[in-house]
Amino acid sequence: MRRSYVVGNWKMNGDGSSLSEARSIAEAASRHPEVDVAICPPFTLIERMARALPTLAVGGQDCHPAPSGAHTGSVAAAMLAEAGAKLVILGHSERREGFGESDELVRRKVEAALAANLGVILCVGEPLSVREEGRAEAYVLAQLAGSLPYALLAEPSRVAIAYEPIWAIGTGLTPSLEDIAAMHAAVRGALGDAGEEMAILYGGSVNAENAAQILSLDDVDGALVGGASLKAASFAAIIAAAN
Ligand code: PGA
Repeated sequence: MRRSYVVGNWKMNGDGSSLSEARSIAEAASRHPEVDVAICPPFTLIERMARALPTLAVGGQDCHPAPSGAHTGSVAAAMLAEAGAKLVILGHSERREGFGESDELVRRKVEAALAANLGVILCVGEPLSVREEGRAEAYVLAQLAGSLPYALLAEPSRVAIAYEPIWAIGTGLTPSLEDIAAMHAAVRGALGDAGEEMAILYGGSVNAENAAQILSLDDVDGALVGGASLKAASFAAIIAAAN
């Protein structure tokens, strides 16, 4: 049985005053022990949040593939782990698009994160033009093949895949339930035996209102949530819906 997994991606939001919101999220999570809950705040909050809220899994939103070196502005996977992170989001479309990250770079980051004993949320998702041309499934499966290290298929429980259509992120738009179900089934199928254990999350405009329907779909094991994870009230409702 795969456990439900709900992850909040705070993106470039939050400061010290946000720890009280995170505390309320940790309390909500403790009322649903059957759901795994994580928050990925900006780098600057990881250590403080992990110390203040030991029951909450705290994660990063990116890491560098190298363990150390002359990479100004970057953070290594082991540095995240030392700060108290238990996981890291990799290959988010805002990194792929905004920072030109290729599948190959994302794959090396996944390898680095696993070597540092972090869990990984590996994001894939198509732009609107690709969806409109009817090529979304082929596009997402190619991204998955390019960014998932082959060796990982032997250790599937350490990685969750997040299907996030780019046009649904932060827009209030979501694919139809049928389209979400079809894409998740396609990803599950492409993962082969490993797919039985690997969680596949949906992300893109998940909120307190639509979470229950999306999370009730067979191959949807959880959600990667941006905007609605910033407030405990809406995020708690999504955690409850993941039951
Ligand atoms: P959103 O973001 O929930 O604000 O659409 C999701 C994400 O980017 O992970």
